[in-house]
Amino acid sequence: MRLKTFSLFLWPFWLVFAPAATTKAVDAGNTSLPWHLTPLKYANTSTLLNVAYYEAGPPNGSAVILVHGFPYSIDAFASVVPLLTGKGYRVIVPYLRGYGETSFLYPDTPRSAEQAALGSDLIALMDAIHIDKAIFAGYDWGTVVVNVAAALWPERCNGHVAANSYLIQNRSTAWVPLDPDSEALRWYYYVFLTARGAAGLASNPKAWARSLWQKNSIGWNFSEEYLDLTATAFENTDYVDIVLNFYRNRLLYAPGDPKYSALALRLDVQPPISARSVTFDPQNSVVFPPTNGTATAKYFTGSRCHYVLPNVGENVPYQAPKMFANAIFAVDNLPLHGTDVISTRNSQREAAASICHHVLPFIN
Ligand SMILES: *[C@@H]1O[C@H](CO)[C@@H](O)[C@H](O)[C@H]1NC(C)=O
Ligand SMILES: *[C@@H]1O[C@H](CO)[C@@H](O)[C@H](O)[C@H]1NC(C)=O
Ligand SMILES: *[C@@H]1O[C@H](CO)[C@@H](O)[C@H](O)[C@H]1NC(C)=O
Ligand SMILES: *[C@@H]1O[C@H](CO)[C@@H](O)[C@H](O)[C@H]1NC(C)=O
Ligand SMILES: *[C@@H]1O[C@H](CO)[C@@H](O)[C@H](O)[C@H]1NC(C)=O
Ligand SMILES: *[C@@H]1O[C@H](CO)[C@@H](O)[C@H](O)[C@H]1NC(C)=O
Repeated sequence: MRLKTFSLFLWPFWLVFAPAATTKAVDAGNTSLPWHLTPLKYANTSTLLNVAYYEAGPPNGSAVILVHGFPYSIDAFASVVPLLTGKGYRVIVPYLRGYGETSFLYPDTPRSAEQAALGSDLIALMDAIHIDKAIFAGYDWGTVVVNVAAALWPERCNGHVAANSYLIQNRSTAWVPLDPDSEALRWYYYVFLTARGAAGLASNPKAWARSLWQKNSIGWNFSEEYLDLTATAFENTDYVDIVLNFYRNRLLYAPGDPKYSALALRLDVQPPISARSVTFDPQNSVVFPPTNGTATAKYFTGSRCHYVLPNVGENVPYQAPKMFANAIFAVDNLPLHGTDVISTRNSQREAAASICHHVLPFIN
């Protein structure tokens, strides 16, 4: 019998922890001493990339793939990795196309950053390094990546962790405006449509990152040292093209790569994610303000827990590495899709609630 699935929301967390906004950062991790995840490994993929990635943990461990955002780098996960390897996970942290040492194999491959291409890259990397199934975890652009990969290739996904829950776009709604205040927060989307924005980003990607970090995460006191470290990932020759294409494609000012047109159509229907999922909204995120998760519930047909993470901005793995790791431990304890039947729905729900309550969000 097919599983009747459910979505789960844990209001007590939201209610209990929302007032904690007045308390100090709860989970600073090792963030005062940023460092690079090195050495890197490299793999050629069917998406015509040479993907640079960091790998740690036992080769036979259960695989977790961590996906960074914009304008960030794999080093955002530096303090998350040891928490995962410490529990026996095999951890893979790839640079997205356009970032760090990931490169295009051929000069004539379109520098597309459309959602279908980014999601395909993750699966192509798994194929290249012979990983059948993994837990996918991402934030910002990384959420787009893990959403797409989990939605289109559910058989490859052993669990799904995503900041801001669900960011797969239906292109038909690309020109539906938001209220003016929400549009104003997305100023850079629109600047990147222009030649002036392209020239600006190309001339000083680090300054753009500093500005976005300051504006998009309330109260984040990042160090220049961490910014310097991250900015090395922007030296990639395709960085500007990829960043511009991501926003231009989402706003329908740049076409996709025809290679992905069939997948792009499948994404327009905003396919559901059946993998067990933990989603969260950072409380101090500006562009995507915290929600209670109900608006995105329709996208999750498997077990799901949703949280608001207090005192955390957009760069969750860097600002709150323990919370990020705990979300992965939690998702790995949720029931697997298809393993339970309707009659166990209530006990399954209770079990999931218990798991989420015990694992998230603060374990020091
Ligand atoms: C803390 O940061 C340093 C780099 O400054 C790194 O070598 C070390 O492994 C980190 N420690 C932990 C526990 O993550
Ligand atoms: C990737 O492909 C390039 C170009 O074909 C080749 O030179 C390189 O050796 C390949 N790298 C790996 C790791 O297979
Ligand atoms: C991985 O291999 C090690 C060493 O052979 C073994 O001790 C461990 O149990 C294995 N772990 C898994 C998950 O198979
Ligand atoms: C921000 O961090 C710097 C050093 O990293 C520290 O000197 C300063 O006191 C911090 N400011 C706040 C408001 O926490
Ligand atoms: C995509 O958005 C358009 C415009 O709102 C809507 O008419 C259409 O039904 C959506 N497509 C799907 C598959 O939901
Ligand atoms: C969740 O948020 C939405 C939008 O703010 C609101 O309408 C709804 O009542 C909330 N649901 C719960 C259970 O708090």
